[in-house]
Amino acid sequence: MKSAQAWRGGMKDMQILPAPRHRAHLKKPTWIIVLVSLVSMFLVCAYVYPPHNSAACYVFSSHGCKGISNWLPPAPARELTDDEIASRVVIKDILNTPRTVSKSPKIAFLFLTPGPLPFERLWDKFFQGNEGRFSVYVHASKDKPLHFSRYFINREIRSDKVVWGKISMVDAERRLLSNALQDPDNHHFVLLSESCIPLRNFDFVYNYLMYTNVSFVDCFEDPGPHGSGRYSEHMLPEVEKKDFRKGAQWFTMKRQHAVIIMADSLYYTKFRDYCKPGMDGKNCYSDEHYLPTFFHMLDPAGIANWSVTHVDWSEGKWHPKSYRARDVTYELIKNITSITESIHVTSDERKAIQIQQCLWNGNEKPCYLFGRKFLPDTLDKLLHLFPNYTRI
Ligand SMILES: *[C@@H]1O[C@H](CO)[C@@H](O)[C@H](O)[C@H]1NC(C)=O
Ligand SMILES: *[C@@H]1O[C@H](CO)[C@@H](O)[C@H](O)[C@H]1NC(C)=O
Ligand SMILES: *[C@@H]1O[C@H](CO)[C@@H](O)[C@H](O)[C@H]1NC(C)=O
Ligand SMILES: *[C@@H]1O[C@H](CO)[C@@H](O)[C@H](O)[C@H]1NC(C)=O
Repeated sequence: MKSAQAWRGGMKDMQILPAPRHRAHLKKPTWIIVLVSLVSMFLVCAYVYPPHNSAACYVFSSHGCKGISNWLPPAPARELTDDEIASRVVIKDILNTPRTVSKSPKIAFLFLTPGPLPFERLWDKFFQGNEGRFSVYVHASKDKPLHFSRYFINREIRSDKVVWGKISMVDAERRLLSNALQDPDNHHFVLLSESCIPLRNFDFVYNYLMYTNVSFVDCFEDPGPHGSGRYSEHMLPEVEKKDFRKGAQWFTMKRQHAVIIMADSLYYTKFRDYCKPGMDGKNCYSDEHYLPTFFHMLDPAGIANWSVTHVDWSEGKWHPKSYRARDVTYELIKNITSITESIHVTSDERKAIQIQQCLWNGNEKPCYLFGRKFLPDTLDKLLHLFPNYTRI
């Protein structure tokens, strides 16, 4: 009812708009446009001022809509804290420094695993013949793996315990990045787990990652309990709820982005202290929120917002689908590699589906380079199919 009154108020006050005598001559389409515009303005207003105070929102009334001055010119920005100013100036400077291109740019493959790497032999095939264009780093948090491939031998970095959902997961990612950053030839960084497989040949992956200027960091706004519902106000003032984002942890990242993560302690600390299991009676997982939120706040245009590592959530369960040997066929891989849209589903009751076209330097391209949740028993089939499915 309130809305209807507000609308009538709008209609009534319109009489005081200039040049009313011309109105009779307006043709129908013009009226429709005027009407649609008014309705739109009203809807915007109703949105900015939810029902409980919508009565205050008479767009055309002589009192005006008090808060309207807040959204027409942008609201004055919050005063940044000293730490924020310092942090932002460093990050901005790094991002604005043109990257020095080395003579032999490499992609660093960062394997985050509890122990053995069941697909080492598949990765060995993938890397073969591309010496000098990649480097491998392994963070084995529990058991030291036995290696079969020369590309993996002696590539382990000092590791530490990783507890699922805790900040130690982010710490391990940072440890991998900092080790890989030591080699100035590493231009792009890919985080992978022990259940990840390559879906393309090396050249395809190399060109895809090396010749784009964005990082493939997954990022979307989920207003539901598994998204913003995990936010804690203890993160204020630096991290506001409206900036809180979610995304899968499996990123690829350009060098500058890896460096700003090393430079960040302000936002990292907020997530370490206030985004953890059991925080405020809820479970928050830093590995799903820290990087998406960080990049959304500090370099939103610098990330693609989807992950190039495919995973199948379509079963709607707590965990994504794990592929077994019987699932693995040429057709399955072809299906995954032909996907050109990335999909996010919110965790609230609406289960809203957000679809994004995968644009690579502005052109539609397949979204995925890697696949995950493959069980070890798929290895033989994958080894057999690999030469076939990677022929461009
Ligand atoms: C990346 O390159 C595209 C064109 O190639 C350009 O439009 C875009 O602004 C660039 N993005 C960044 C973050 O530099
Ligand atoms: C990613 O999303 C942000 C909004 O959060 C947007 O500004 C940015 O342009 C998006 N990136 C690309 C590559 O479309
Ligand atoms: C591949 O995609 C087609 C068309 O969407 C579907 O009918 C088929 O079941 C899929 N096959 C596999 C193995 O996923
Ligand atoms: C290899 O690929 C072709 C299509 O290019 C397909 O017809 C054939 O069945 C594949 N071979 C195997 C072993 O899957």
